[in-house]
This record gives sequence, C-alpha cells and structure tokens, in this order.
Amino acid sequence: MVAIKLKGVGYAYEDGIKALEGIDLTVMQGERVSLVGPNGAGKSTLLHILDSLYLPTEGEMEIAGIIVNKKTARQATMRAGLLFQDPDDQIFMPRVWDDVAFGPINMMLDELEVSRRVETSLSLAGVTEYADRVPHHLSFGEKKRVAIAGLLAMDPEILLLDEPTANLDPLGRRALVNVLQSLDKSMVLATHDLTVAMELTKRVVVLKRKVLYDGDFHGLLRRPDILTEASLELPSIPRLFSEWNARTGRKNEIPLTLEEALDTLEREMDG
Ligand SMILES: Nc1ncnc2c1ncn2[C@@H]1O[C@H](COP(=O)(O)OP(=O)(O)O)[C@@H](O)[C@H]1O
Ligand SMILES: [Mg+2]
Repeated sequence: MVAIKLKGVGYAYEDGIKALEGIDLTVMQGERVSLVGPNGAGKSTLLHILDSLYLPTEGEMEIAGIIVNKKTARQATMRAGLLFQDPDDQIFMPRVWDDVAFGPINMMLDELEVSRRVETSLSLAGVTEYADRVPHHLSFGEKKRVAIAGLLAMDPEILLLDEPTANLDPLGRRALVNVLQSLDKSMVLATHDLTVAMELTKRVVVLKRKVLYDGDFHGLLRRPDILTEASLELPSIPRLFSEWNARTGRKNEIPLTLEEALDTLEREMDG
C-alpha cells in the first residue's frame, strides 16, 4: 500500500519563490524516509505539502489513497500529522495537558479515550511532569517534546517530522529515536542530524529544490558530489571508516551506526 505519492510536484510561494520543482516521491505504508538538505532546500515546504496544508502549484499528489486537491485537502490533512520545525507554531493552549488533548478532543473522542491518549503521549515524549505547566514558559527543547506528545496523541497514519531532534538534549534525543523506532507508521523525517537519520531510516532523500538523491545511505556515501552539493557532513562513524578505507586500501562496506561499526571491528579483529 502506498502512503504518499507525488508526481512532478512543484511549489511556488506567492512572492514567486520557487521552493520545489519536479518532485517525484513514493513512500510505502510503514516506510521511514529521511529528508536532508541545506537550509532553504525546501524540506519544511515539502512537509507542509505532504500534510496538505499547502497545495502543490504543479503536479499531482496522493496521500493515504486520497487524491489531494482543494476539496479533499482537509480530509488528507487528517491522515497525516506534521511536527512543525518551530514548536511555537504548534502549541497554543495555556496548559501542556490541554494542548496535547486539543487534537484528540477535536477528533470527537470520548473523555476517557482523550485522557488515555494524553497520558500515553506525555509519557512517550517524556513530558509527563510538565502536564500542568504553561507551555510558553518551557524551553525550546521542552516545547518540542510537548509538540511531539500532541502529535502522538492524534495517532496519525503518516508522521511528518520537521527537525524533531533539534535542540533536544542527548538523552531526550535518544528517547525520541527509541519512540519513533517503535512506531509502525509511515514517516518522513526532515533533519540535519544524519546520525539520527541513519538510525531511523534506511532510505534517504536529498533535497535541494529538486530531489538530488533517493536511495539508501550506503549508496549516498558513494556519492561525494551529492554530499558536497547538499552541504552534508557525515557523522563520525562513517567518516572514520571511509578515511580508514582510503588510507589502508580496504574496500569494507562503510558502517553507518555504532552497531555496524562494532561488527566491522569484530570482523577485522578475527581476520
Ligand atoms: N512563507 C514563505 N514565503 C516565501 N518564501 C518562503 C516562505 N517560506 C519559505 N520560503 C522560501 O522557500 C525556500 C525553502 O524554504 P524551506 O522549505 O523553509 O527550506 P528548509 O526547510 O529546507 O530550510 C527558501 O528559499 C525560503 O526562503
Ligand atoms: Mg525547514
């Protein structure tokens, strides 16, 4: 089953800025994809389009089986959930608990189910202790986690995450990776954090107004031209092992994660 299908999608802002051009993208149900690229690449614009908040100014789009146009946009929006890059765009109730409850209440769920979802999501996002706080008094990273709780409480089929780990402390980031990993949902994750991207997804789309690359991370490592064009810097582990390969003439597949690096070292030690 296809969750997301874009054909030749382009987007121009009203002032004429063409943020996206000729985007072809298919994401299957349950598939997780990282979206990377420099500032201004169009990542946030694309996520707004995938949430049917902006309609493509060119091309065609299908979300969860719905062909998206002016008439169906609202319906399509309900099938996906967008975590905004800036949590201040997302959080507006005067109490954390009410903010997280806002979505489920709007979905006409009964009181018991609303409470159940709010408690579960606050706990998953690690913000149970903030339930009674004023969101606007929290730090950026804390607000981001509250926004994540709000998103989880709606339980959308498709998760669209705009830099979810930006400004999280290391433990918060680890906890979020674990939560996202445990969810069986289609996911598009815009991020500058390639370590997180490599842990969470096999597939990566490199964006710079157009799609520069769409494939797995191992394939991307073999494309230094694209890494340069998209201003991407590899995380320490793949960087270390590609340097090591270069120096020693080894042709090992470059490990991406800590686990893979340990396996590589173990094989080297045995050999
Ligand atoms: N509301 C807007 N009006 C006009 N141009 C915009 C607007 N939002 C973003 N842009 C422009 O669209 C391009 C893509 O922006 P964005 O999607 O935010 O990129 P990214 O999330 O990859 O940093 C940039 O050139 C940006 O300046
Ligand atoms: Mg952005």
